[in-house]
Amino acid sequence: MKAILCRAYGLPDTLTLEDIPSPVPGPGEVLIQTKACSLNFPDTLTIRNMYQFKPPLPFSPGSESSGIVTSVGEGVKHVKPGDRVFTFGSHGGLAEERISDARTTIPLPKGMDFITGASTMYAYGTSYHALKDRGQLQPGETLLVLGAAGGVGLAAVELGDMMGATVIAAASSDEKLAVCNEKGATYMINYTKEDLRERIKDITQGKGVDVIYDPVGDKWAEPAIRSLAWRGRYLVVGFAGGEIPKIPLNLALLKGSSLVGVFWGMFTQKEAALSQQNMQDIAIWAMEGKISPYISKHYTLAEAPQALTDMMERKVIGKAVVVL
Ligand SMILES: NC(=O)c1ccc[n+]([C@@H]2O[C@H](COP(=O)([O-])OP(=O)(O)OC[C@H]3O[C@@H](n4cnc5c(N)ncnc54)[C@H](OP(=O)(O)O)[C@@H]3O)[C@@H](O)[C@H]2O)c1
Repeated sequence: MKAILCRAYGLPDTLTLEDIPSPVPGPGEVLIQTKACSLNFPDTLTIRNMYQFKPPLPFSPGSESSGIVTSVGEGVKHVKPGDRVFTFGSHGGLAEERISDARTTIPLPKGMDFITGASTMYAYGTSYHALKDRGQLQPGETLLVLGAAGGVGLAAVELGDMMGATVIAAASSDEKLAVCNEKGATYMINYTKEDLRERIKDITQGKGVDVIYDPVGDKWAEPAIRSLAWRGRYLVVGFAGGEIPKIPLNLALLKGSSLVGVFWGMFTQKEAALSQQNMQDIAIWAMEGKISPYISKHYTLAEAPQALTDMMERKVIGKAVVVL
């Protein structure tokens, strides 16, 4: 089978496309013929050995994928050969066949196509957990989303709007902000051209925002936190901007605000029942057409390194998907 391989940590152009033997599933594992693999920012970190999960070399990157079960290992009962599934894990999606942990292999809702199946759960799972379970977002509140046209950011825009919040999207280009507007943002801020704090002050008439969803960190985190309303909640989602910011704690005191961590992967393990309920909600909304991932570009397996480069260069809007 063909697979993209990371043989030594490095940038996407060091990845190779190779023919390797088909893997065999062990106990509790599932072998899946991959149909689509959507990229997530952590994939760009894993290949550089900069992420918390460190698969042994060589490995195929790609955390989130969908496909057809071809065989199952001992003890696997809930899926069987022929089933259409999606799955996620630290790696393995950028290959024609993928070994997956049965616990993270979930039947695709009937009628959901492979590309949507590979692009929904990670982004919406993270953003729904963040906004509902960690941010306690309420109808009528204001939600600021940074990096709002990225994979998890755009899901937060769509879910925030659906949950009845007024969404303010912040991103680096007018093209990205137009998509955020389409997905439910009422106000748009181009944070490479406009002063984030001043715009939030204007939009909220001096009150500040109730919840901030921040997958970017870096230089945007502090001005955003300074723009919180009384009892606001700032959600620590990620650091795609590079630097992990250091925040003066008096800012939390002054607004009676909360700085709240979000770790979806760990949540799916530690609070499995609630996570499964969240997944069901997301699947239902996707099937009802209330949410849909914005897929800006399809790539072939051979083009996967380019897709990862595009993500690192902030060229992707919504999701980039490798279709096999
Ligand atoms: N906590 C969790 O459970 C969890 C789960 C999933 C993902 N994450 C984290 O969330 C972050 C976003 O993930 P994603 O998959 O949505 O990524 P993505 O699609 O690449 O979106 C990231 C966004 O960050 C912005 N950005 C600013 N500076 C950047 C830079 N130097 N390089 C790349 N992007 C930059 C870009 O928007 P602009 O160009 O508009 O600034 C981009 O759209 C990552 O840090 C990821 O690790 C966390």
